[in-house]
Amino acid sequence: MSLAYLEAQGFRNIQQLGIEPSPTVNLIYGSNASGKTSLLESIYFLSHGRSFLTHKIKDVMNVHSQQMHIFSRLVNEQNRIIPAGILHDREKLLIKLNGVKINRLSELAIQLPVIALHPESHQLISGGPKQRRQFIDWGLFHVEQSYNGIWQRYQKALKQRNAALRSRQPAKTFHVWDQQIFEAAEKIDNLRRNYVKQLQLLVNQFQELVFDDKTIVIDYYRGWNRETDLPVVFEQALKTDMERGFSQAGPQRADLRFKINGLNAETAVSRGQQKSLVVLLRLLQGLLFHQATKKNSVILFDDLPAELDSQHRQKILKMMSELPAQLFITSIEKNAVDLSLWSEQKMFHVEHGMVSEKA
Ligand SMILES: Nc1ncnc2c1ncn2[C@@H]1O[C@H](COP(=O)(O)OP(=O)(O)OP(=O)(O)O)[C@@H](O)[C@H]1O
Ligand SMILES: [Mg+2]
Repeated sequence: MSLAYLEAQGFRNIQQLGIEPSPTVNLIYGSNASGKTSLLESIYFLSHGRSFLTHKIKDVMNVHSQQMHIFSRLVNEQNRIIPAGILHDREKLLIKLNGVKINRLSELAIQLPVIALHPESHQLISGGPKQRRQFIDWGLFHVEQSYNGIWQRYQKALKQRNAALRSRQPAKTFHVWDQQIFEAAEKIDNLRRNYVKQLQLLVNQFQELVFDDKTIVIDYYRGWNRETDLPVVFEQALKTDMERGFSQAGPQRADLRFKINGLNAETAVSRGQQKSLVVLLRLLQGLLFHQATKKNSVILFDDLPAELDSQHRQKILKMMSELPAQLFITSIEKNAVDLSLWSEQKMFHVEHGMVSEKA
């Protein structure tokens, strides 16, 4: 999938945006506060229904506009054009795909697999576990058709169990949810474990491109003790679950730990190494997606020159030039990103929220 046309209005400071991006690489440049990040955010928003910087829709709506819209003509791998758009009028969100109104953002997300790298991306390592679960789940959502349904079923049963725990109901009331929880939890765990394993294989293959002779290891924690089955864990935790009013163990507590040469990436490696690691992981996630589906992803890289030193920048650019993906890279300076590895490219200049293509 790639974006053949992108249009946005009323999104952050974007006043005029109507571009035909290259299916390979696009460089977006312009001075501070011109609207570069906003352009990338608009693509991310179309795919995720939210920004990578904020969860509040009112933050991304232009302060002076009553309406915002993002529209794109997507082209799939069979060269079919799929129009996709989002319109928000400060009250409701209208999502359209192929000319038809849809109710669930996930239908749009499936069509448009977007991966974002930006100055806060290192939080995948230094931030809370939720982002790491979202990282695994992105991969599964786009590859395993059954995953979304299993996850929804799990969430529903867990919510009911927690509600019963919270309202101090007798044990037999919440035990009715246990079986559904155990079945879904096992499937989620198997899918996640398998995903991390596949990603690790790619990491083994590509780590030296970015980390020379260092070894990267991804440790997966499933959300409960790895030696004990979930029913046993539930049994052991019953008393404290009842006291606390929620279920303490399960896939909702899953996490990842990354190690570089045995050192914990969260606490013992430099910020620059964390950033390089996140870039490597996200790009490989795009590659894994391609291997599993034969589809291309869209990769957004905000402020690439500011994120990596020149040596790492070159290595990452080389890796990106070989990836089956459509790339959008932003930079303040036009010449700070060397695009000579690509045979075809497009450049766009942003100024006060106006975007124009440059030769
Ligand atoms: N909701 C909004 N309405 C109007 N303007 C906004 C809104 N949100 C952000 N802006 C403004 O949009 C402008 C562009 O921001 P953006 O982050 O896209 O700039 P940028 O080109 O990425 O800059 P930098 O090089 O500093 O990263 C900023 O001046 C910002 O204050
Ligand atoms: Mg920016």
